[in-house]
Amino acid sequence: MFPCYSGIEAIFFHTMKFLIILVVIGLLGPTPFTFGTDRSEDRPTILKFVTMKPDQAKAWEEAIGRFERAYPSIQIEREIAPASSTAYHDLLTQKLKNRDPSMDLFLMDVIWPAEFAAAGWALPIDKQFPPSEQAKFLPGPIQAGIYQGHIYGMPSRIDSGMLYYRIDLLEKYGFTPPQTWGELVVQAKTIVEGEKDSQPGLRGYSGQFKQYEGLVCNMLEFVGSHNGTLTSEDGNRSTLASPQSIQAVTFVREQMINQLATPAVLTYQEPESLAVFVQGKAVFHRNWPYAWGIVDDPRYSKVVGNVGVGPLPHFSKGRKVSALGGWLYGISTFSPHPEEAWKFIQFMTSADIQKYFAVKGSLAPSRIALYRDREVLETNPQYESFLPVFQTATPRPRTPAYPIISNILQRYFSRVLAFPDTDILKEAQIADQQINRYLALVHPNPS
Ligand code: GLC
Repeated sequence: MFPCYSGIEAIFFHTMKFLIILVVIGLLGPTPFTFGTDRSEDRPTILKFVTMKPDQAKAWEEAIGRFERAYPSIQIEREIAPASSTAYHDLLTQKLKNRDPSMDLFLMDVIWPAEFAAAGWALPIDKQFPPSEQAKFLPGPIQAGIYQGHIYGMPSRIDSGMLYYRIDLLEKYGFTPPQTWGELVVQAKTIVEGEKDSQPGLRGYSGQFKQYEGLVCNMLEFVGSHNGTLTSEDGNRSTLASPQSIQAVTFVREQMINQLATPAVLTYQEPESLAVFVQGKAVFHRNWPYAWGIVDDPRYSKVVGNVGVGPLPHFSKGRKVSALGGWLYGISTFSPHPEEAWKFIQFMTSADIQKYFAVKGSLAPSRIALYRDREVLETNPQYESFLPVFQTATPRPRTPAYPIISNILQRYFSRVLAFPDTDILKEAQIADQQINRYLALVHPNPS
């Protein structure tokens, strides 16, 4: 039996059939129907951006506000993790392991892209960020974003270790900025001794020696500036037990931790170590470029106008070494909004926004051309001489196994620095063995 319809019923029936077909194909995937509907006009796309606690909170708010004004159909929701790279890594990787679709994009420390790429957590951005564009950026952060021929991160800023010093105190005692660690020790001791009645709390040095990622950066600089390395050149072998490395670690334990610095330095990350310096309680301070914005700001600093900044010293037979740091934007593989995420990344890494961050917060641009920008150089005169340091900064091992390797490095350095009776060579040999075991498990060549 076939139903028989009147004229009105037939129109109703065919219209319903048409609507049902549209609903079904709409459910099956993108069609001209779903594409043609600009839902964004009614409901903006919310992009969840996970990031560590920023050094320059106001500047971030302003930059994100500018993006939202330029792209009214996209809103950014930020989830702010702790300031420590190590703690932030734990939070971020937890979400990625859970394939959390509510997170669209994130900032990656320069040491993570290999891990994120190997795990399938970050989307490759080769098409959006081709080599012709990459060439406009400093080479270190670009290299950091590449894993097995694909690029996974777009650099926001570069970091590299710098020495901040008290010009007023150095001048008072007839010193020029130290070139070697030995000179730094002599100068610091002379100044602290000379100032002991008027400034009894003054210390010679403050840096980052807590057990976390920053410790690896500080120690890489001491070991590297004594011609040592963390791993062999091919990246396949840990080299902590080399004589150069052992001597550098011994120097830090004997001269820095228990002489020039307060023992509390073993609990310092960047903010605590910087606080000591801006309160006028340390002659020398190791930190990243952002510290300039704080050191030079009377709201936070008692030493405005009395601070100089230059490359870190080296050992007398060694060479200058600065750890390569910095942050890259990455898109989560599990994001439902990769295209919108890319728009945000493009905006945030543009020359305008990088310039804004450099002028407002002394975040060192990853775009090379900004090192010729008048306003950037006026606020950060040190950048002129720092460009070569940024171009040659020393990376930490680039491998998907980096987090576990860093964990072993952190425990090794922290233990031997905190406990003066530990046998540095023995501990270094144990750490070498453990690291080698993990290095053997992963692909030898991340390029
Ligand atoms: C800075 C660097 C980062 C490094 C961290 C260590 O944020 O940019 O690369 O891992 O400091 O504390």
